Amino acid sequence: MTRHILVAVDGSEHADRAVEFTADLAGCVGAPVTVLHVVPTTSPAPTIVGTYAELEQIWLNARDALEEAGRELVARVAERLRRAGVEDVRTRVELGPPARTIVDVAREVGADVIVMGRRGLGDLKGLLLGSVSHKVAQIAEATVVTVR
Ligand SMILES: Nc1ncnc2c1ncn2[C@@H]1O[C@H](COP(=O)(O)OP(=O)(O)OP(=O)(O)O)[C@@H](O)[C@H]1O
Ligand SMILES: [Mg+2]
Repeated sequence: MTRHILVAVDGSEHADRAVEFTADLAGCVGAPVTVLHVVPTTSPAPTIVGTYAELEQIWLNARDALEEAGRELVARVAERLRRAGVEDVRTRVELGPPARTIVDVAREVGADVIVMGRRGLGDLKGLLLGSVSHKVAQIAEATVVTVR
């Protein structure tokens, strides 16, 4: 039995398809849905030269902007699920390493199914699975659905 579904979104078209699948699944089984976006805490390669304090400020500003964008993203997705008839929709935005955080939040909310795209925003062509969906499939206790 599916008790709670977690759908992980990164703003990609792949994740959009995962959301559509989630709407169908949640509609069938009547389970609540948690929509999660993780702001990655792995800092980008330092291409800008500056003092440590200046670089840290750039990083903090970028992180805040990503967090804000993440909140808008999960709110938009939640609205779409509600329009599709899913009654119980919750949202989460977390900072951390994406795969580990997805698995941890799934456990925390009691999700027994995790839905995600096979690929995401990365564009390494030829790969069947992205690194986040690959890692979640490896380490999650829940059933992981990677949507094509
Ligand atoms: N930061 C994130 N927060 C929430 N879900 C994510 C995040 N990143 C990826 N996902 C989920 O994982 C799915 C697969 O994305 P993944 O990042 O593994 O592929 P990719 O971007 O193509 O590859 P890579 O990131 O390894 O270059 C996405 O469709 C989305 O459902
Ligand atoms: Mg990615």
